[in-house]
Amino acid sequence: MQVGQARKIVVLGTGGTIAGTSEVAGANVGYTAAQIGVAQLLAAVPGLERAAGGAELAAEQVAQIDSKDMTHAVWARLAARCAALLADASVAGIVVTHGTDTLEETAWLLHSVLPADKPVVLTCAMRPATALAPDGPQNLLDAVALAAEPSARGVLVAAAGVVHGAREVSKVHPLRLDAFDSGDTGPLGWVEAGRVRWAHGRAPAAQAPAHGALAQALEARPWPRVEIVLSHAGADGALVDWLVQGGAAGIVVAATGNGTLHAALEQALARAAAAGVRVRVASRCPQGRMLALQDARWQDADGLSPVKARVSLLLELLAATMPG
Ligand code: SIN
Repeated sequence: MQVGQARKIVVLGTGGTIAGTSEVAGANVGYTAAQIGVAQLLAAVPGLERAAGGAELAAEQVAQIDSKDMTHAVWARLAARCAALLADASVAGIVVTHGTDTLEETAWLLHSVLPADKPVVLTCAMRPATALAPDGPQNLLDAVALAAEPSARGVLVAAAGVVHGAREVSKVHPLRLDAFDSGDTGPLGWVEAGRVRWAHGRAPAAQAPAHGALAQALEARPWPRVEIVLSHAGADGALVDWLVQGGAAGIVVAATGNGTLHAALEQALARAAAAGVRVRVASRCPQGRMLALQDARWQDADGLSPVKARVSLLLELLAATMPG
């Protein structure tokens, strides 16, 4: 493994269980996330330099949070820092240590705003650093190996030996070490003994970001309110009316099946749309993707899960406030 002319891999710490500790020796649950600094995490993993293919490793603490508490401000800071590092010719790739709980949302946000010419690898852990057999050190080693892989591009996730893409990845299990899944599409590849093996024998093609102009601009802008509403038995749409009164600029509906909505909820959404609120429909089904219907009343979320559709709608609304 080698990283060509660029000599640096930067590991950005944001917290999560990978940086978590427990006062109960060896405990896997009941710990506190985001306690150990990223430099200390790196220092505890033997073999990282080898995994980095001779590149220098640098650590920066961007945040120190449990990812359930992710904020738009942390997202904006992380995106800006990644964009600045990717523009630095000495940087070969970035690793982001992150909690598992909202990792897929952060992955989709970064995918949507960052150039895809170098790898940005998110990694995490299901067990705290103080567990009897923590999974964080191996995940970190794999993430660094992936960031040093010359064919790797774009925002990727390395967890439990598997490489996932930002669009497909989602957390599907609350406890299992292999907690992430890429659904029908399957993983992009694997990291095995420090080597990346791409599914179908080739690295995925790089994709231009949908909102590249926003990476450095997110910190300076007020974020609109975009909420997720679920279509369920007994839904009456009152929540939608309340959101409109509260100033929501966008609503993502987690719809049943192939995008169907409770009639009462649909009426409330029609009132919201008439008031200028942007509505997107995603399926609440965890697998597959909705087929767009020709006579569809609502714009669908292009196969994204409700949480990722919310990120896209946020960015779409933010982009609309950009000058020029
Ligand atoms: C978090 O998401 O920060 C806590 C849970 C985890 O990392 O597994």
